Amino acid sequence: MFNTIRALATGALALAALSCQVALAEEPILIKFSHVVADSTPKGQGALLFKKLVEERLEGKVKVEVYPNSTLYGDANELDALRNNEVQLLAPSLAKFDQYTKQLQVFDLPFLFDDLEAVNRFQKRAKGRQLLRSMEAHDIAGLAYWHNGMKQLSATRALHVPTDAKGLNFRIQPSAVLESQFSVIGANSQKLPFSEVFDALKSGKVQGAENPWSNIYSKKLHEVQPFISETNHGVLDYMLVSNSRFWYSIPHQVRTELEAIIDEVTYAVNKQAEADNQADRQRIIDSGRSQVISLTPEQRQAWRDAMRPVWAQFEDQIGKDVIKAAQTVNRKHRE
Ligand code: SIN
Repeated sequence: MFNTIRALATGALALAALSCQVALAEEPILIKFSHVVADSTPKGQGALLFKKLVEERLEGKVKVEVYPNSTLYGDANELDALRNNEVQLLAPSLAKFDQYTKQLQVFDLPFLFDDLEAVNRFQKRAKGRQLLRSMEAHDIAGLAYWHNGMKQLSATRALHVPTDAKGLNFRIQPSAVLESQFSVIGANSQKLPFSEVFDALKSGKVQGAENPWSNIYSKKLHEVQPFISETNHGVLDYMLVSNSRFWYSIPHQVRTELEAIIDEVTYAVNKQAEADNQADRQRIIDSGRSQVISLTPEQRQAWRDAMRPVWAQFEDQIGKDVIKAAQTVNRKHRE
């Protein structure tokens, strides 16, 4: 009698364990996608489109939660969270990988790329593709490049030529190249998370910043920066990244479908980003809150010449081959 009860209990426990395993096996894979910008920006739109397509095509297999505006993780901790698999997708600006690879700093070099189309060409060629794998030793898998746009300089003063920026303190992303970009023109810089930029500009802690139009408009930076110079001096793009241990643990067929969705989203984001930035540029002008300053070719050349010494400072860290490959994508290839 006692033995029968024990056998029944063991059987029940085994059944419970099995059904628990089945339940676990049927549980959809959860992908938390965290980012620091607004839903309306190119990255914000890309994250939402990824969620939508996954819900349509992988229902029950994969679930996506999107956390915009630093609501889950911010610049200070998002990459640690990814490496600990607390979040599974991020798309940090390329300037934010400084501590994991120096090669990606190529994207921060001022006046290296003539425009977003040149950036696009570089990202598609062999050297650009290779950089997607440059952080594998840190368990960071690069899945795609997403565009935002070219950066503009905003400030409390009208900036026409580099000497106008002397003595101002600019907010920068955590990149040594960007720090140097401002020091070579006699300005100061302060590394701050994106979530703190508006308050820092409003309070006067910093007096200037550099951002694409979409980030300026969506975070209302134009309301606290009376002047924006249309310098297009550098690029602010993203790398869509996952934790490589997590990513390669996804069953092959599901991962293949996810990668196809990522290709589709990447195409959509990159096709739309420039138009979104131009629309936000116009909204800023229409708001009348900030004066948009166009530079003459001579003025733009003065910025280019003043910032050019930064390239040589970082040549060894980034790699001459990487910089050279980037230079060749401009229509008029300049040495
Ligand atoms: C972002 O676009 O993700 C933020 C960029 C920044 O920190 O300036």
